[in-house]
Amino acid sequence: MELVDLRVIGDERGSLIALEQGQNIPFAIKRAYYIFGTQSDVNRGFHAHRRLEQMAICVSGRCKMIIDDGVTKQAIWLDSSSKALIIRNMIWREMHEFSEDCVLMVFASEHYDESDYIRNYDQFIKEVRNGQA
Ligand code: TYD
Repeated sequence: MELVDLRVIGDERGSLIALEQGQNIPFAIKRAYYIFGTQSDVNRGFHAHRRLEQMAICVSGRCKMIIDDGVTKQAIWLDSSSKALIIRNMIWREMHEFSEDCVLMVFASEHYDESDYIRNYDQFIKEVRNGQA
């Protein structure tokens, strides 16, 4: 699990976090998006990417991330605006238990491309094993 503890620049007026490509974001950013207004009983994700790398931060609220490399499955609460999760390629991810105020910000290394998605878990496992062969 690759977590980055982002430096909070704070003073009496409040807090600020700066994200910079090549500094605390370990890839060139082609896209950013954010997920918000997610219903509490909804789960998202359930896919992996063949090439895409991402960095996810809950800038408000929290959600639980499940990260699975095909061998090990780990759960992590994204519950701080200074905690970033790096999700490399060929990692199955699920998002659960969104708080009502959750805003999940994601930075991505590629433009949106549906053909980069693996949305079937058995197919994901097959491609992980092929990659290792
Ligand atoms: P998806 O990645 O499946 O969402 P999640 O992983 O959060 O469950 O995307 C949901 C929909 O939004 C899907 O139809 C594709 C579309 N989409 C874009 O058009 N552009 C994007 O950058 C993203 C992330 C999704």
